[in-house]
Amino acid sequence: MSAVSDSRASTVPFALATWMQAQLARVEAALDAALADDGPAGLGLAMRYAVQGGGKRLRPLLVLAACEAVEGQPAAALRAACAVELIHAYSLVHDDMPCMDNDVLRRGKPTVHVQFGQAQALLAGDALQALAFELLTPEDGVDEAMQARLCRLLARAAGSQGMAGGQAIDLAHVGCQLAEGELRHMHALKTGALLQASVLMGAACGQASPAACQALSEYGAAIGLAFQVVDDVLDVTQDSATLGKTAGKDAAQDKPTYVSLMGLQGARAHADDLLAQAQARLVASGLADTHALAALADMVVRRTH
Ligand code: IPE
Ligand code: IPE
Ligand code: MG
Ligand code: MG
Ligand code: MG
Repeated sequence: MSAVSDSRASTVPFALATWMQAQLARVEAALDAALADDGPAGLGLAMRYAVQGGGKRLRPLLVLAACEAVEGQPAAALRAACAVELIHAYSLVHDDMPCMDNDVLRRGKPTVHVQFGQAQALLAGDALQALAFELLTPEDGVDEAMQARLCRLLARAAGSQGMAGGQAIDLAHVGCQLAEGELRHMHALKTGALLQASVLMGAACGQASPAACQALSEYGAAIGLAFQVVDDVLDVTQDSATLGKTAGKDAAQDKPTYVSLMGLQGARAHADDLLAQAQARLVASGLADTHALAALADMVVRRTH
């Protein structure tokens, strides 16, 4: 992944590629196991298609990195990592449908509704969301208070106060220019919420102090917003082959974005500011091992796809 080498070239003295390789192997194996069931009438196939074979897995990596930072429970973090990726995959399936962004390309492949039809895409999204919460709540051997907290964090970030709410704002403002505060709010909900929740879920797998959790929360908010600012930039600067999704569609669909608000240079500079804020919050957290979180923040802003 070119984004990895970008991060390794940064000032963070941490072997992100090596760390990521090990974590991604765990995540892919756990996702494979979670999606092993065929599901009736081809639904399992559509679900696997939506989740497997592509995706940077940034949200799972954030969960695992935050868990490491607080020396939390790895098994709980792996469940949370898969759960947030399933919610993310569902959000992409629905985002691409004709009633939303009407996209035909995702992760370098035809979108789920193109491949399987709209009804199956709708159901695959629904079922991925349900599977996320099933995965988070195994019957045995879990700390139930931790489990409830993880469910609450994910539900809140996915729902009307998070991703789904942000998507509603997005759709309601096609053709409108938003003021910076409104755009920030939309991005914080539609994309930032799940990224911030990834960090908070990792932290919830351990026992960090309230001050450290607050700093991690602010780190998550900063990279969550930076992520969508960079998504807006890449939509303008990259081609579809690099992105694995249709380039140039924000302008084509007249969506309010950070590029339409601030211009390309302004949006890039804003992403850099958010990265600096995120790194400062990690320092302020007082946690000993935030190397992976720092390197992932770098990756969010310096990525090429
Ligand atoms: C794309 O997210 C959708 C947004 C929230 C902007 P990612 O860029 O993380 O997509 P994948 O998972 O790597 O395909
Ligand atoms: C979508 O934002 C965010 C989601 C909640 C899926 P975009 O519509 O900009 O995402 P892409 O560019 O299609 O990946
Ligand atoms: Mg969209
Ligand atoms: Mg879209
Ligand atoms: Mg986009």
